Amino acid sequence: MPYTVAFFGATGGCTNACLTHLLLSSDYKAIALVRTPQKLIDSLKRQPGITDAILAQKLSIVQGDATDVATVKRTLLFQGDGHANSTPKLVDAIISGIGAYPRQQTTTTLVSALREIYAEQQQQENKPVVTVISTTGLASPAGAKEDVPIGLRTLYHSLLAEPHKDKKRMEEILSDKENSALFRGVVIVRPTLLKGDGIVQSKDASSKTVRAGTEFEPVTGYTISRADVGRWIWKNMLLSEDRGEKWIGRRVSLAY
Ligand SMILES: NC(=O)c1ccc[n+]([C@@H]2O[C@H](COP(=O)([O-])OP(=O)(O)OC[C@H]3O[C@@H](n4cnc5c(N)ncnc54)[C@H](OP(=O)(O)O)[C@@H]3O)[C@@H](O)[C@H]2O)c1
Repeated sequence: MPYTVAFFGATGGCTNACLTHLLLSSDYKAIALVRTPQKLIDSLKRQPGITDAILAQKLSIVQGDATDVATVKRTLLFQGDGHANSTPKLVDAIISGIGAYPRQQTTTTLVSALREIYAEQQQQENKPVVTVISTTGLASPAGAKEDVPIGLRTLYHSLLAEPHKDKKRMEEILSDKENSALFRGVVIVRPTLLKGDGIVQSKDASSKTVRAGTEFEPVTGYTISRADVGRWIWKNMLLSEDRGEKWIGRRVSLAY
């Protein structure tokens, strides 16, 4: 059985890059919830190496909104052998780069969808690991160190204070004891200011080193490309042998 991953926000650059790496690798399958399927297909076909055959073989698309519980449930339940009447299997991992405001609404929907799945199918063996993309500058949890470089502090702590409240709430919902128990693990990725369009480059073309820290030992930096955020999530959370065990429960700051 391939390792199956549900994607939310895959038309956005970071998540699109992560999905691209997965589609170009063997032993993985993806299921993506999107509002506009053609937008996802067009964006993936702009990525090097992605063909119609790969999309047909490895990607299922669920059309809908991430605030709709029924649609999210369909995204989390993978039709294992491709037959409509086979028993669906809960995905192994979830990657979410939803960017809309308020994001706490989509997070609440994800939690509700999982609760319903567990209530309906009492024999769910594996819980998925969820990785969500948040931001630096949230100054949480208590005791977390400053993760914004000095030149971005006015932007992050004043101008972006309002949208950041929503991201903070998203993190709180996922970190809540009862909610986090719905997952095998929760990883919150906090990239610094994003740049680029998420188009992946060959392994050797990316010359910059991505640094990763935690809430208590954060890395600070001014920029990171969407493509490198997607690559970091792919390599660390999906490709690595331990599937990101090291980062579970952490708020992972990313920067060059
Ligand atoms: N900009 C920065 O410098 C910065 C820094 C740190 C963190 N971040 C965060 O990093 C994350 C990734 O950013 P990005 O630029 O790669 O992606 P993005 O362009 O923000 O993409 C957002 C994605 O969310 C989807 N989406 C929004 N509302 C939805 C809904 N109700 N149902 C289904 N899908 C929905 C969008 O779909 P559609 O295509 O349908 O709109 C899109 O795929 C975002 O959460 C962003 O806030 C940004």
